[in-house]
Amino acid sequence: MTTRTSRSDFTTVSYDPIDTRHHGSIAVPVYQSSLFAHETYAQFEEAFEDLFLTPVYSRGRNPTVAFLEEKLAVLESGEAARCFASGMAAITAAIMSCVNQGDHVLCVSQAYGPTREFFTSYLTRFGIETTYVDGTSMEALRQAVLPNTALLYLESPTTMRFEVQDLSACTELARSIGARTIIDNTWATPIFQKPLAFGVDLVVHSLTKYVSGHSDCVGGAVIGSKELINRLSTSEYMLFGGIMAPQIAALLIRGLRSLPLRMQRHQETGLQVAAHLERQPHVIRVNHPGLPSHPQHELAKRQMSGYGSLFSFVTDEPIARLKAWSDRLHYFKIGVSWGGFESLIVVNEIPDGEAGDRRIVRLYVGLEDPADLIADLDEAWARVRDL
Ligand SMILES: Cc1ncc(COP(=O)(O)O)c(C=O)c1O
Repeated sequence: MTTRTSRSDFTTVSYDPIDTRHHGSIAVPVYQSSLFAHETYAQFEEAFEDLFLTPVYSRGRNPTVAFLEEKLAVLESGEAARCFASGMAAITAAIMSCVNQGDHVLCVSQAYGPTREFFTSYLTRFGIETTYVDGTSMEALRQAVLPNTALLYLESPTTMRFEVQDLSACTELARSIGARTIIDNTWATPIFQKPLAFGVDLVVHSLTKYVSGHSDCVGGAVIGSKELINRLSTSEYMLFGGIMAPQIAALLIRGLRSLPLRMQRHQETGLQVAAHLERQPHVIRVNHPGLPSHPQHELAKRQMSGYGSLFSFVTDEPIARLKAWSDRLHYFKIGVSWGGFESLIVVNEIPDGEAGDRRIVRLYVGLEDPADLIADLDEAWARVRDL
């Protein structure tokens, strides 16, 4: 198998079936094998010297998974990648590889819930304390630094309120105090944001979302320098063992091949739907970094070359009406996660900062026709507006 590197994301996600062992197979074969045998004992011993270089055992290197890892590393402009059984397996492994007992972590306050729970309920068992900071304020981040701050954990944009962090300023701050940086780049994907270029140490992904693109598998990845990925591989990856299965890797490789195209379409439709909602009287504010009304739109434009299609809006409408609206939607399905074909909706009773009891509705815009999606939202709203 070969991996072609190219500056073009489209070229990167392609597959050249040049390896004659695969008979010209146009899809990457699934190596459904836990172990790999060797012809001589000398070869076996040599392979054992680097379990990530030559296939020995699939909790180490599996060729199908390795192919996906190489693609992801190139797409993120990183040196190496490691895939995991889920986004959370990747996130927790990345975090564990950056902290020691007694360290302090700075985490953006709107980071994905289970990630925060890992910091708050799990790492505290090892004397690792976390401070949650408003990631939109560099001043707040600077002020929260402690002498033992070892990690700055970012998620830009965050995936409920879609707040953006200034990646260059964050990595500069981290470097000045000798701390590492991790970013969850699931929303933008490497197609629209390449955080390693801003000096971030490790990029983490839930591949379950846009990379899969078909809502049919769960996976995660960590991407970074060879040094950091090697360190994480020999400890958290090998010892916790949360590896990705080869069938899942094959599904994700399939997803990768259409990722650039899908992201373009998601971006366009997402922005159309968001702009439409912004004009509706029952919508107070749309949280989408691609809209000029977003308070950090200029920063978002500088850091990202495009936008994902998950966004939220704030409303004063009663939760019962929002749920009745969701019930009447045809294209938008009621469900968590995102990144697949189908559009999704979740209604949240989260207080929106100073605004008290307002509701946040999170919409994921899928690959359906934009006019159908907009009509769906409007027609269902007309049926519940006066309930
Ligand atoms: C932003 C973000 N990061 C990470 C995760 C965790 O990924 P997984 O569900 O693949 O473990 C999710 C899942 O919803 C997510 O939304």
